[in-house]
Amino acid sequence: MTPNPLSSWSALQAHYDEIRDARLRDWFAADTAAPARAERFTFEGGGIVADFSKNRITDDTLHLLVALAREAGVEQRRDAMFAGEIVNPTEGRAALHTALRATGADAPYHAQIVAERAKMAAFAERVRNGTWTGHTGKRIRYVVNIGIGGSDLGPKMVVHALDHLAHPEISSYFVSNVDGADLARVMARIDPEETLAIIVSKTFTTLETMTNAQTLRDWFVQKGCPEQALAKHFVGVSANPSEVVKFGIDANNVFEMWDWVGGRYSLWSAVGLSIMIAVGAQHFDALLAGANAMDTHFKTAPFERNLPVLMGLIGIWYRNFFGSQSYLVAPYSEALHFVPAYLQQLEMESNGKSARLDGQFVDYPTSAVTWGEPGTNGQHAFFQMLHQGPTIVPIDFIALLTPEHPLVSHHPKLLANCFAQSEALMLGRTIEEARKVAGPDKPSLAPHLVFPGNRPSTTLILDALTAHRLGALIALYEHKVLVQAAVWNINPFDQWGVELGKILGKVVEADLTAPAFDATKHDSSTSALIVRARKAAGAGS
Ligand code: F6P
Repeated sequence: MTPNPLSSWSALQAHYDEIRDARLRDWFAADTAAPARAERFTFEGGGIVADFSKNRITDDTLHLLVALAREAGVEQRRDAMFAGEIVNPTEGRAALHTALRATGADAPYHAQIVAERAKMAAFAERVRNGTWTGHTGKRIRYVVNIGIGGSDLGPKMVVHALDHLAHPEISSYFVSNVDGADLARVMARIDPEETLAIIVSKTFTTLETMTNAQTLRDWFVQKGCPEQALAKHFVGVSANPSEVVKFGIDANNVFEMWDWVGGRYSLWSAVGLSIMIAVGAQHFDALLAGANAMDTHFKTAPFERNLPVLMGLIGIWYRNFFGSQSYLVAPYSEALHFVPAYLQQLEMESNGKSARLDGQFVDYPTSAVTWGEPGTNGQHAFFQMLHQGPTIVPIDFIALLTPEHPLVSHHPKLLANCFAQSEALMLGRTIEEARKVAGPDKPSLAPHLVFPGNRPSTTLILDALTAHRLGALIALYEHKVLVQAAVWNINPFDQWGVELGKILGKVVEADLTAPAFDATKHDSSTSALIVRARKAAGAGS
């Protein structure tokens, strides 16, 4: 069964059979027509340039992929999302992250979005200028964001990326893991008198976040902060404000997000408070403006030149036709270190699904495994497999034309590596070429010097790491995910797959800590693991 089944899908299958063995290096070599292949397959949107030319696509491929997008109803899914329709039917919700960066007063929920952002900006400014102080009158020097998943990964990624724009006297920390090591590491580095904790949880029920928040709160009290002064040090961000107040946070220090913003799409809301404190309201606004520029591009550019549409479709080309299991994101930028981790949630929590919107189950692959690491580090680790392993892993290279730091002499080396990797992966090295490199004395070495080549990649180019460009980059991936969800006919905005583990986790936690344990309750493996842990904790069996 193909997605729906669509006639464009069968046409793509026939096209795949024709070009599956064609070689990119031959296409480039034979490409004498103007404009050149690179130019024909390079497009710009929202200030980002995408070179798709090192992908295993021809003009016909793009034509057929765009036909697939049209037939699958990508346009209707896109418009329904922007219009605030219930595009997340299993939770009965809209997905209006785009409204958070919309500028027109007629955008959905505009007044309440603007009011909440003004509240955030006023608060962030007080923290930044030192007029918001801790209970002993000292300015805030440490901001600790406690959250997990979408309440952590987006803000952490952005704060790290825009570190060059950050307030020089404020250090930002992110604590997500219920492993006490995460919070303990941060506690060892902060002074409670100078610390602001932002507890971020859409639901305000998440085990990890609530555990860390409670531990930190208790620590503040132990360290001498009077209960009634905790309001100086704790603020909350949630779509469930009453729970925030119940936790003990002053109602005036609650920033609201809404159920029509998905957790992994929420950094544009009050969930981004740590971003605003780090870089200021102006840069936060620039982040929103960049995302809005990508929204406009997604809404208005013809599919043939539409970055999120093309990225989504090319991903489907590899996943569903070439059978690629994973795709790699390789930002050639330390500042973009957390982009792959952020994208793992965005891509896999959104599109790692088997149930279709019509209630049937898919019999085609959906989300690829998303992974990544900044270049050039990856080159000295797993790039070996990308070059010579038998598996094809499509890659998104992300390059910054100008550095955001003062060590500019490093930059040509960084960019050279980025561009050379995509070239080497595409070109490969034939056995004849390998024999020459091995030389007549070492013929047995030649097979080891062969590179299959024909390894596809897209290069995304940002002129500089501004908040604006970063916003556009994130929105590009958000919309790419929607495009793929539309073709796969799935709902990218729910995440039922995280629930079963949470339910069983509560049972196991009780079994780990209860005075007695009934080992017949679980399968023998889980029971044995529980018994081992109970013994180690001195709880007997
Ligand atoms: O368990 C998954 C999840 O619900 C994510 O979707 C979400 O981003 C994360 O947990 C955190 O949820 P919350 O913001 O409600 O604490």
